[in-house]
Amino acid sequence: MSEKIGTREYLKSIVKDPLVASVTPTSKFGVNCLLKNLDFSKDMLVVEYGPGGGVITKSLLSRLTPNSKLIAIENNEIFYKALKHNLKDSRLILFLDSAENIQSILSNLYKEGQIASEYADVIISGIPFSMFPNEMKDKILEDTRNSLIPEGRFLVYQFLVSLTVGKTDIKLKLRQYFDMKRSHIVLRNVPPLRVFETVKMKSIDLKRKQIDISSFIDTQNNVKIVANDS
Ligand SMILES: C[S@@+](CC[C@H](N)C(=O)[O-])C[C@H]1O[C@@H](n2cnc3c(N)ncnc32)[C@H](O)[C@@H]1O
Repeated sequence: MSEKIGTREYLKSIVKDPLVASVTPTSKFGVNCLLKNLDFSKDMLVVEYGPGGGVITKSLLSRLTPNSKLIAIENNEIFYKALKHNLKDSRLILFLDSAENIQSILSNLYKEGQIASEYADVIISGIPFSMFPNEMKDKILEDTRNSLIPEGRFLVYQFLVSLTVGKTDIKLKLRQYFDMKRSHIVLRNVPPLRVFETVKMKSIDLKRKQIDISSFIDTQNNVKIVANDS
């Protein structure tokens, strides 16, 4: 197994697994933009979706306190094995799994006493949302929200030119579940990136979530509430 996971390894992997979704690791400009507003002075439970070759994982480990934990969930076996081989750090817990299973992963680790809380302070995601069906995007976003502490952060990086537009675009989707704090464009990355910094909302605004609540019944008054989606 190669020590370094660079462009050559990404190219080999993407041929076999399109969900790798990148031909080269995120640049140092992308990594710095993603992590620059986090407070690394306190102990944190951080989750990373799609660590790939580990460029963000390594940067996180170099910044996190000794008592912090990092859970990295990667569903490509080649990357997972390389990370297992290359990154020996007692704070890192690696999973060969999909981000869809975040809630059971956290709950099992908590029951086993491997983490002190089943809610993460920060979740970072580079998985290719634009390639997922809409239901999968919603499941991951909803479960991510449920896996964060109140005011927890969800940081997302995606390619600037994505495959989806309109209502399924990740920026709009993120707004249904999180408060958008900042977004950035990183041109010094191949290809250029969008970085979104979001925070868990206290309560989900039903209107923004575009839920069809026409079937909600006010049982006390036996009134059917009908709302128009906008
Ligand atoms: C764009 S690459 C990012 C890799 C790396 N973090 C970086 O910044 O260079 C996306 C990564 O997400 C992984 N991935 C795709 N779908 C996933 C899923 N459902 N759960 C976990 N990882 C996934 C891919 O295998 C790939 O490693």
